[in-house]
Amino acid sequence: MKAVAVHPGKPDSVHLAELPMPSAADVPGGRGVLVKLLRVGVDGTDKEINAAEYGAAPEGYDFLVLGHESLGRVEAVGERVTGFSPGDYVVATVRRPGSSIYDVIGAQDMTTDDVYYERGISHLHGFLTDYYVDAEEYLVKVPPAFAEFGFLLEPLSVTEKALHQALEIQRRLKVWRPRRAAVMGAGNTGLLMTLVVRLRGLDVTTFARSLPPTLNSELVEALGARYVSLRARSLQDAAAEFGPFDYIYEASGSAAVAFESALTLAKNGVLALTSVTGAGRNLEVAADRINLDFVLGNKVMFGLANAHREDWEMGVRDMAHAEALYPGWLRRMLTHRVNGLENYREIFERLKDPRGAVKIFCEIAPL
Ligand code: BGC
Ligand code: ZN
Repeated sequence: MKAVAVHPGKPDSVHLAELPMPSAADVPGGRGVLVKLLRVGVDGTDKEINAAEYGAAPEGYDFLVLGHESLGRVEAVGERVTGFSPGDYVVATVRRPGSSIYDVIGAQDMTTDDVYYERGISHLHGFLTDYYVDAEEYLVKVPPAFAEFGFLLEPLSVTEKALHQALEIQRRLKVWRPRRAAVMGAGNTGLLMTLVVRLRGLDVTTFARSLPPTLNSELVEALGARYVSLRARSLQDAAAEFGPFDYIYEASGSAAVAFESALTLAKNGVLALTSVTGAGRNLEVAADRINLDFVLGNKVMFGLANAHREDWEMGVRDMAHAEALYPGWLRRMLTHRVNGLENYREIFERLKDPRGAVKIFCEIAPL
């Protein structure tokens, strides 16, 4: 079968590769689930991998099959599989266990191993192909009504993890009651985080570069959140009016924005960092002020990657909540559909020039 792959380390090497057809029996112990891929979303990580800034091929291969945001349908199950049946719509989680103690307890999103295994990203093939097989513990079922946008569960899981971890951290405060949230960035995860905090009733300000109106600003406002363009207003000025923020989710892609946002955190507040900033730049920050405010205000800043299975499951519940409160909103994120794996070039052209695009995805087979 065909697969969209890159040669990690070689810029712009995206091409069509061949993979053998998998079968449920490839997973030992009768726990394999064979899944037919229907839709796969792409994001900045795929762009970076094709730019040779990130990513690693599986052992024994000189290519890596891309795609980590998947939606598929179960075709066949091994004899010991209990949670899935043919016809179920499923999303595969991304990271697979390594060897640290966190991996052993199913918290591979918290691994301390230097080498980590992520489908479509690091040492494991991804989902831009026709079929995959995986053990049932790595699959999450999605209701048929959400199949159309089901692959959004992957980026959604990262935002669920951010909030869940923030709440875990804030248990130290016994009575933490967040009222105001800020989201830095209105890309895929910035939008999804805006949704997640609006579903919890917070007053939300989402910051991005572009001047409104854009589809991103409209999506933010459709949730009853506030969109602020950093071209029109400084972060500090907007924070003086709408902040300080009890919870900040940073997904702007910029370390400068990340540190500047620390200045807008409320006392006892918590700031979640998620931007992947691989360029190695140095910058000047208000170090004394940030340090002093964090000390005197008992503030926390933490980083996170990937997601725990619980976060994926919370994501499915939030999709239902979102469809009830903001019907059609998740579907509106799907702006660019590329039909068929063979049109993979179109996916990468779009990723390089994403103007007007919120979510780009490949339709591999009809739902
Ligand atoms: C993926 C995460 C992954 C991270 C780091 C993101 O694009 O959505 O699942 O952990 O990249 O590789
Ligand atoms: Zn991603």
